[in-house]
Amino acid sequence: MRGQAVVWALAWAIGLLPRILCIEDSKHQAALLQQPEGHSPDFIRYQHAEFPSHSIRIKEQSDDLCNAGSKQYTGWLDANGKHLFFWYFDSLNDPLTDPLTLWVTGGPGVSSLVGLLVEIGPCLIDDGGEGTHRNPFSWTRNSSMIFVDQPAGTGLSYTDPGTDLPTDSKIAAEDMYIFLQIFLTQVFPERREVPFHIAGESYGGHYVPNMAVEILKQNKIHQERPEVPLKSIMIGNGCVSPMHTTYGFYETLCTTKPGVETPVFNATRCKVMADALPRCMYVYESCYRYPDKAICKATEEPCGIIFDLFESESHAGGRDPFDITRVCEVEHLCYSSTLNVQEYINSKSVWSALDVPDAIHNFSIESPGIVAAFESSNDLYANTMNLIQSTLEHKVDVLIYNGNLDLACNTAGNLRWTNALRWNGQAEFESRDLRPWFSVVEGELTPVGQYKEVSASARGGDADAQRFAFVTVDKAGHMVSTLPTNFNLKCIHCPLLTDGVCRSLSVSRPLH
Ligand SMILES: *[C@@H]1O[C@H](CO)[C@@H](O)[C@H](O)[C@H]1NC(C)=O
Ligand SMILES: *[C@@H]1O[C@H](CO)[C@@H](O)[C@H](O)[C@H]1NC(C)=O
Ligand SMILES: *[C@@H]1O[C@H](CO)[C@@H](O)[C@H](O)[C@H]1NC(C)=O
Repeated sequence: MRGQAVVWALAWAIGLLPRILCIEDSKHQAALLQQPEGHSPDFIRYQHAEFPSHSIRIKEQSDDLCNAGSKQYTGWLDANGKHLFFWYFDSLNDPLTDPLTLWVTGGPGVSSLVGLLVEIGPCLIDDGGEGTHRNPFSWTRNSSMIFVDQPAGTGLSYTDPGTDLPTDSKIAAEDMYIFLQIFLTQVFPERREVPFHIAGESYGGHYVPNMAVEILKQNKIHQERPEVPLKSIMIGNGCVSPMHTTYGFYETLCTTKPGVETPVFNATRCKVMADALPRCMYVYESCYRYPDKAICKATEEPCGIIFDLFESESHAGGRDPFDITRVCEVEHLCYSSTLNVQEYINSKSVWSALDVPDAIHNFSIESPGIVAAFESSNDLYANTMNLIQSTLEHKVDVLIYNGNLDLACNTAGNLRWTNALRWNGQAEFESRDLRPWFSVVEGELTPVGQYKEVSASARGGDADAQRFAFVTVDKAGHMVSTLPTNFNLKCIHCPLLTDGVCRSLSVSRPLH
């Protein structure tokens, strides 16, 4: 009866016992199900009365798997033929009062284990990919964290034969809402009492706003269900508006503004780019107005010229689109650490600790299936500005942060759309200049980037204003949080949004 013992131990550990005992009292109480055939008895399974075809299977893991220093659990949400993998960590500080932050990496189709094991997670991959070491700058220092491989089909998430892969960020967000409902009501009900934040990077600029809007919509429609207490969203080097990002290529490659001594491109190439831009923008405006793939595909001809100049030279030993001052170590994702993650997860001991089902043959850092599925919709061309606007209007704070050396989702483009965002803080936001922000570097208060932030209430006279901030980080690229640092970023000096955001940022590592 080992399984049963684990169930009880885990139930105690996460404070579930009272709920399991009074299972009859409420439809929101945890329901433990029988283990289905072929699944390890180490998993326990939770279900929500309102989502009978969905359940979460979860098992506790140890520091041998990820040197985290706090309780950690892995498992899957099983949902109508889709199976979403997650890895949860308690905050190192106080999990009962610290916020809970969901992290998603981008792609589309890149595993969130990149965020976990290379950037902001409690353990980082060793150089040889053979183990992990403690990350002193982990976001778990002041927040519990969930890393989810989504959409289904990404990383360790999978679909049953006959179930279609999600083709856009909206479908992915619908799955994530159900995941969060079960997670917060059944698996960790006490985490419902703390502020909830969603953070993501890169294509997360599509995922995160879609999730926020889905959560806010469902919170409103289903008032009988416990709210998902969303307080803020954070997007690092986000791909929010491809049109603005494309425009930003010029400033990033043809000026010294990203923080380089000489522009990356010479005058000949910059002229080619400048000449192509007006038509590229003109066609993109049509795509934004009529967001249909047939129309948006037409951007490829005038805009392709702009991308190709850089992309033709981007490969192992060539230009790194994620840091214009760097050379790619490996093809495509450029960072060799991503291959180490792949090796680690595919190793026998990790595979068996995670109890990966037979349906997954092999872990890949990036799923070509999801890339293809998203290419079949208009998602790659779409922008999420109206979703971010709607998120702000629902009193959820929004933080956009950007490493200045990134080209892929560059600062220039992201600044451009943040200025163009139509909300009632826009006039004030756009008219503000960026100002330096500071961190303590080797005992000295040092400027490390720039920011602007505006608070405005969505509907006039409302004291309860929401905040919108844009923050840049010098000498950092796309994966702004990967870089080692000796910084002790103090909340008081950072453009503070919410407690949770500031806490998260204050333990991340901006530079050097
Ligand atoms: C973060 O956690 C540390 C302990 O690890 C604690 O001293 C500090 O007060 C926490 N910060 C916040 C803002 O809660
Ligand atoms: C500009 O850069 C391109 C690509 O490196 C090169 O082929 C070309 O000769 C350069 N033009 C000038 C005028 O230096
Ligand atoms: C697993 O996938 C990785 C990367 O996609 C690949 O390099 C490796 O050969 C694969 N291994 C097996 C056993 O298929």
